[in-house]
Amino acid sequence: MKKMIILFGAGVALALAVCLPAAPTFTVDAGHVAGKVSPIFYGLMTEEINHSYDGGLYAELIQNRGFNEDPATPVHWSVASGDNAAATMALDSDNGLNAALTRSLRLTVTAADRKHPAGVANDGYWGIPVKPHTRYRATIFAKADAGFSGPVTLAIASDDGRKVYAKQQFSGLTTDWKKFEVTLHTGWTRPATRARFEIMLDAPGTIWLGFVSLFPPTWGNQPNGFRPDLMQMLINLHPRFLRFPGGNYVEGDTIATRFDWKKTIGPIWARPGHPCPWGYYSSDGLGLLEFLEWCEDMKAEPVLAVYAGYSLNHTHVNPGPDLEPFVQDALDEIEYVTGSTNTTWGARRAQDGHPRPFPLHYVEIGNEDWFDRSGSYDQRFAQFYLAIKAKYPQLKLISTIGYDQPERERVHSVQPDMMDEHYYRSVESFLKMSPDYAKNYDRNGPEVFVGEWASHETSFPPWDKRSQNEPPTPDLWAAIGDATFMTAMERNSDLIRMNCYAPLLVNVNPGARQWRPDLIGYDGLSVYGSPSYYAIGMFSRNLGDEILSTASAETSVQGCATRNSKTGEIYLKLVNPATNPVPLKIELDGAGPLASRGTVLTLAGNPDDTNSIQQPKKVVPVAKTIHGVKSEFIYPMPPDSIVVLKLKPRS
Ligand code: AHR
Repeated sequence: MKKMIILFGAGVALALAVCLPAAPTFTVDAGHVAGKVSPIFYGLMTEEINHSYDGGLYAELIQNRGFNEDPATPVHWSVASGDNAAATMALDSDNGLNAALTRSLRLTVTAADRKHPAGVANDGYWGIPVKPHTRYRATIFAKADAGFSGPVTLAIASDDGRKVYAKQQFSGLTTDWKKFEVTLHTGWTRPATRARFEIMLDAPGTIWLGFVSLFPPTWGNQPNGFRPDLMQMLINLHPRFLRFPGGNYVEGDTIATRFDWKKTIGPIWARPGHPCPWGYYSSDGLGLLEFLEWCEDMKAEPVLAVYAGYSLNHTHVNPGPDLEPFVQDALDEIEYVTGSTNTTWGARRAQDGHPRPFPLHYVEIGNEDWFDRSGSYDQRFAQFYLAIKAKYPQLKLISTIGYDQPERERVHSVQPDMMDEHYYRSVESFLKMSPDYAKNYDRNGPEVFVGEWASHETSFPPWDKRSQNEPPTPDLWAAIGDATFMTAMERNSDLIRMNCYAPLLVNVNPGARQWRPDLIGYDGLSVYGSPSYYAIGMFSRNLGDEILSTASAETSVQGCATRNSKTGEIYLKLVNPATNPVPLKIELDGAGPLASRGTVLTLAGNPDDTNSIQQPKKVVPVAKTIHGVKSEFIYPMPPDSIVVLKLKPRS
């Protein structure tokens, strides 16, 4: 909710008659280049939070596919049988599929026939989403009691089982585990989110299910792939990097439940998964290789966070010999990412399906280690730093404690190449801090990565459970706070090398989220971007490579300017947080002759407005042509607006 900000503008005519105030002015020094914009300035931050992967980007539709989410109960599975049929189900720890999936689901059908089948059903992530004319791929590991070989009927059906959207059978079960791959097709149907996946027998018998997976069509038809609609949303932001896998997710609540990358590679039916710190179980179907392929698909480079010996329950591993295995794990991880196929872990990557090494320039050591009150980070960081630099001197190593934390808490034993800052602030606080942000940072010290930032417009901080009653994604007012901070970061993008909003994704179903605000919302069928999503896209798609100095006078409009050195196009990014329009005088000193026609992108409206599943495009940018551009002109900034002016040199 916005507070009223009324500033100099057209509405002060009476005051003008008495005493003429200077006009609100935004000046750009286009005569010389103040610095070079980092080429990888805008990127994405991601971790398993708010069902970002399971029930989100990772397209798997079955929840608890390996029966490892709860040792006592087959959560998300239920018995499915109608009249004249009967079945029971139970977890079976004596019949696990393999060393990773040590429990199976035993289904015993005691009464069934072709008209009255019985079996089990999975309710997916808030239902199995159903689309018309769509192909679904099921992969099932199953075995049976001697004497039963099938058939087994797979179906996507409504949650009461009455309506069947797609159906297919398989047979050939034996007393040994066998993998079955079955394709189901839907015909014409209205899209539905509340379906279930059934595994039914039409005769009495006992079968065991070791692993059950169901995928809809994925991005690039990858078998273990991503939702195409979400991928397209991400690609539209033109991200230059992806920070993964956290965030808190890399740390885990305990050392045992950290992101243990070696358990996240290989066949998906041999990954144990692990409890994630956001209160639910991660299948690890989106594991290290999938993160890297995700980067590849977006043409973004990985910013890899390695576990650094601190977990969220305030335990840490002592620097020295105790930490050595974790340092070695990080070295192995880097080798998995970058090593040739002659190396141990490069060969493993090839075996996992990706012989080509991935590019890697940045490695972050831990996450938010200022929470480690033992003060061990300085030594832990140094131990990782020295070992990684010895083998990979070209890598830039990022400390998780930056200028946003007190000097004494930062790393001193060695000089990090870069420091990570996190800002979760109110809109008002971003408006206040942005004019001076990073002005006094040491230009000869470490570079800066703003690895998490977001402004919230509500009274509750993002982690506060009371914010559950607010919409999951922010409104236009929050986007105004975000855009203001982006102009501050861009002004300093010689030093601020990378930045990314967090969190990126939220499943909007009840109970799915742990944090607000989030950039992109979705349910099983639909996806939408928040106003902040559109603001980031406006900025990241219009990024020059030269920073131009700017100054504002007599206005609360904040902004920045960059230029594309090849085309000469200037990008002016301006944010008006006021409720009144501002006739902004724009002075472009030393710009040379400009084409009188330019383009303007505007995100504006009622600051309380937001987007949602129901109204995905309520607040979106509008592109228009403007006329009369010259070295000095008045641009009428709409109230509550984010504006990108694209000005070309006269040809
Ligand atoms: O973005 C949500 C969380 O905020 C991250 O996991 C953590 O790094 C920060 O505290």
